[in-house]
Amino acid sequence: MKLWAGRFQKETDTLVNDFNSSISFDARMYREDIAGSIAHAAMLGRQGIIEEHEAEKIIDGLKAILADIEADKAEFSLENEDIHMNIETMLTQRIGDTGKRLHTARSRNDQVAVDFRLYVKQEIPKIIGQVLDLEQVLVCKAKAHLETVMPGYTHLQRAQPTTFGHYMMAYANMFKRDVTRLEDCLARMDECPLGAGALATSTYPVDRFATAQALGFARPTDNSMDSVSDRDFAIEFLSALSILMMHLSRFSEEVILWCSWEFKYVELDDAYSTGSSIMPQKKNPDVAELVRGKTGRVYGALITLLTVMKGLPLAYNKDMQEDKECVFDAIDTVEMCLPVFTAMLDTLTVRAGNMRKAASGGFINATDCADYLVKKGMPFREAYMIVGRLVNMCIKTGETLDTLPLKDFRSVSNVFDADVYQALELKTCVNGRKVYGGPAAESVKTQIAHIEAFVEAHR
Ligand code: ARG
Repeated sequence: MKLWAGRFQKETDTLVNDFNSSISFDARMYREDIAGSIAHAAMLGRQGIIEEHEAEKIIDGLKAILADIEADKAEFSLENEDIHMNIETMLTQRIGDTGKRLHTARSRNDQVAVDFRLYVKQEIPKIIGQVLDLEQVLVCKAKAHLETVMPGYTHLQRAQPTTFGHYMMAYANMFKRDVTRLEDCLARMDECPLGAGALATSTYPVDRFATAQALGFARPTDNSMDSVSDRDFAIEFLSALSILMMHLSRFSEEVILWCSWEFKYVELDDAYSTGSSIMPQKKNPDVAELVRGKTGRVYGALITLLTVMKGLPLAYNKDMQEDKECVFDAIDTVEMCLPVFTAMLDTLTVRAGNMRKAASGGFINATDCADYLVKKGMPFREAYMIVGRLVNMCIKTGETLDTLPLKDFRSVSNVFDADVYQALELKTCVNGRKVYGGPAAESVKTQIAHIEAFVEAHR
């Protein structure tokens, strides 16, 4: 019989039973549900709302149920709709009528709100830990490639020389922001909705500060209607995950490009790439492609929840049961993507020779050529024009700035001297950019130190 059967004269239609039930996915919150119930029962006992010995009996029963679930000895039923009613039913079956006192001064509305928050709260540090692992691999790669010159791009056109180390630290900074976004979101969701009841609290002297503290929240939520209708914390969490996935996806895209024969900047480890069933020569970057693809699922989760919430009047509406699957899927996806991406990055080989070749072939030092003239006193705009003419000349004759004879330089401007060749060397171009944040080895070392300190402080 349903816990709420009293008001009804008919059984629920089986189609409705299936449709209404959430146990197939909210069962994963059993630990949080039991923890919430234990905190609630203990508070009821302490406040004299139920007898102390009843509270103890309830708590012992809940602990025994937890042990059974962990030992795979408990079975949830669809008839009991969700994790909350399943556990409450199990409790009453186990300890008898005392179990029926647990739901005093509580509703499933505050119950689900507290369970879901507890669940998300516990996942955030796990994800942060995985991002920090990735940061460590980035630092490692950057240290090994402080001098590995490669082209930097704009519009995917070779633009200015940089190093693989500088490139890695660019991503390290994105992931650093992802960590802080997750931390911000964790801090904001650190309020306990328990005690809000259905929407208007209750007439019992419940101690919401005590339950909040027992469950590890910083404080109780301030308004009971808001407590049971708010899913901002989940939306914010999904936004942070979406941005994180966007970063991983961009990085994946680069890895995929770099693996192509057109680039050949990196070689994936055999253990982190896959073959083709028909083309024997293929070595595919499937891991990176899947990470890029799975980004869509996480964005989908965010849009799902934003859309579920956008038209809901206060307070709880059953629509809100749709909040969990998308969040769980996003968590599973991110927690699967991060370690495999990190391992793939860790094991890839950098083809420094190909990077250097790509950086040397074009006119990646054209800005440096203009800067050379500027350092000799010419205004930048004028220098820019002269180098443009030189590049045009080179394209016609099949030269590059590094190979162009000095007389040709001087035919365009007599400011050029033999020292131009040294100014155009890739090493000079990179290591001359010592500006804070730049690609020179000493600048990248500062960036590495900052990320290392960040990882240390946030572990
Ligand atoms: N299974 C429900 C959910 O996930 C629990 C809350 C149900 N509350 C209610 N008033 N029907 O949202």
